[in-house]
Amino acid sequence: MSFSLLIRHATLPDGRSGLDIGVRDGVIAAIEPNIVADAATTIEAAGDLVAPPFIDCHLHLDSTLSLGQPRLNQSGTLLEGIALWGELKPHLTVEAIHERARRLCMWSIAQGIGAIRSHVDICDDRLLAVEALTALRDEMAPYITLQLVAFPQDGFLRYPKSRENLHRALAMGVDMVGGIPHFERTMAEGTESVRQLMAIAAERGLRVDMHCDESDDPLSRHIETLAGETIRHGMQGRVAGSHLTSLHSMDNYYASKLIPLIAEAGVSAIANPLINITLQGRHDTYPKRRGMTRVPELMAAGVNVAFGHDCVLDPWYPLGSHDMLEVASMGLHVAQMTGVAAMRACFDAVTINPARAMGLTDHEIAVGNPAHLIVLDASDPIEAIRTCAAKRAVIRAGNIIAAAPPRRSIVTLGHQTSTIDWRLPH
Ligand code: FE2
Repeated sequence: MSFSLLIRHATLPDGRSGLDIGVRDGVIAAIEPNIVADAATTIEAAGDLVAPPFIDCHLHLDSTLSLGQPRLNQSGTLLEGIALWGELKPHLTVEAIHERARRLCMWSIAQGIGAIRSHVDICDDRLLAVEALTALRDEMAPYITLQLVAFPQDGFLRYPKSRENLHRALAMGVDMVGGIPHFERTMAEGTESVRQLMAIAAERGLRVDMHCDESDDPLSRHIETLAGETIRHGMQGRVAGSHLTSLHSMDNYYASKLIPLIAEAGVSAIANPLINITLQGRHDTYPKRRGMTRVPELMAAGVNVAFGHDCVLDPWYPLGSHDMLEVASMGLHVAQMTGVAAMRACFDAVTINPARAMGLTDHEIAVGNPAHLIVLDASDPIEAIRTCAAKRAVIRAGNIIAAAPPRRSIVTLGHQTSTIDWRLPH
């Protein structure tokens, strides 16, 4: 028996340990203790966590790394961000979008991300971002999976050419349908936009991911229509609602009816903790709302909940290095998910849950699945989140495509020098 790659003494996210993982022809061929075999390449995990790659199921690759173009967001608000993006749009080129998005993908790969769902703004009649990102998706496919959502940033009904541009974008190869009902002119038009977009997706057999109720308004209830239309069209498991921040502020009685409806519809909930905590609650004095959706309550009801990064160095967010462990940490803190099972659930929210939201069915570590794996400088998911663990090895189809040394510091006190390792002895 021989393998192209053999990982020794792995600990898996579910707690199983002491396992060897054998890879052949880019596929996981064996997961057993003490495999006796030759391998072209061997990684000694020495008890470290081997996990499926991180997934960012909510990102904007067209605006990423554009911070400061044409100017910085002085108020730091969502609305100034949208206005700034509008100022930048006339100056965009296919080459510039492609270059920024490609650089971000290199960061993503280094951070152990194996797949990204990116929204693509279709409210630029030139559709430059569609051209740039469909090309990038195909170019990067051997290394990172990109799934593109046609996103009418300026409103599906509010922006006159959205419908035409949506069909053009889908014809150019964009994968699925997006929306932004809370940004339409009226509540009624928001509802109507959800109905029309779901009808288009159902007709074409496409998945849906809408920016939905990204607002502190407790009466922003478009998720109800999205869930209802999902059931009506029989699209359970193929639809996601992104942000859902109004759910944070909703009346508890209404929420107790809404959450089971989201579960029944099989609609995934995608929270974006870094962005929600910084952009929501901006009209509040004190106390200030956190704005993130009800993550533990949705999970308890059986809803698939994933965390996205949303923005990296763009008009809406001036920070970030696309580390999904930072996202998991922020989600954990904002939702007060410090119980042991809850902390592990936050790791799932950046690995297996977003895979489910994106319809990636072969993402778990199992024999027969593609050998997309990461080796982290941590013993378990909680330690990985706590230390923002280094990504020792990033493996795509059995090939090591990125590597990083563990994070250590040298402390010298007088004549005594110590190496500081933030991991606790196990
Ligand atoms: Fe977004």
